[in-house]
Amino acid sequence: MDAGLRPYNSEDVEALYQLDQQCYPPGIAYSRREMKWYLRLPGADCLVAEGDGGIAGFIITEREHDLGHIVTLDVAEAQRRRGVGTALLGAAEARMMEAGVRRVSLETATDNAPAVAFWKKHGYRTVAVLKNYYMDKLDAYEMHKVLMKSENRNSKLENR
Ligand SMILES: CC(C)(COP(=O)(O)OP(=O)(O)OC[C@H]1O[C@@H](n2cnc3c(N)ncnc32)[C@H](O)[C@@H]1OP(=O)(O)O)[C@@H](O)C(=O)NCCC(=O)NCCS
Repeated sequence: MDAGLRPYNSEDVEALYQLDQQCYPPGIAYSRREMKWYLRLPGADCLVAEGDGGIAGFIITEREHDLGHIVTLDVAEAQRRRGVGTALLGAAEARMMEAGVRRVSLETATDNAPAVAFWKKHGYRTVAVLKNYYMDKLDAYEMHKVLMKSENRNSKLENR
């Protein structure tokens, strides 16, 4: 995987919105307003992976003290299974760790098998099932991970 990673800038917002619309079903995908709201949260961080001719993926995280939260991770369909999600997550975790985060949480739909497999591969463990979390009808797993210092050694942004 050789997609360059970089922090997002305000000119990316429309492309992030469009990619999110492609990655999630209606009702779960963020509106433009929601996307902007998440990007402006205190402690929010957003990294973008550049692909051939556009944005291959992005991740939004937020943090408060030693707790981090993954808001979303989106990889364009044509770019999947090439390590883009892994690179984005590794870099985002490294940045959260640097900012003092020790534990990270996320929610993912229980029927999203690729995502559940992805999170498990990266050390996230299910701690709860959140009934009717999405659109008052779809369940979500709440997953947690404790960040370890030895991880993220290969993060592309680590030495910036
Ligand atoms: C989940 C998602 C982010 C994964 O991104 P990706 O760039 O394809 O992930 P990677 O290539 O880094 O995959 C790493 C590992 O995760 C697991 N994985 C990823 N996609 C998988 C799939 N479709 N089925 C099974 N395992 C999968 C595999 O173990 C994979 O390693 P491998 O390819 O060596 O077998 C991507 O599928 C996506 O954007 N989906 C739509 C949005 C979404 O569901 N986001 C996550 C919920 S917040």
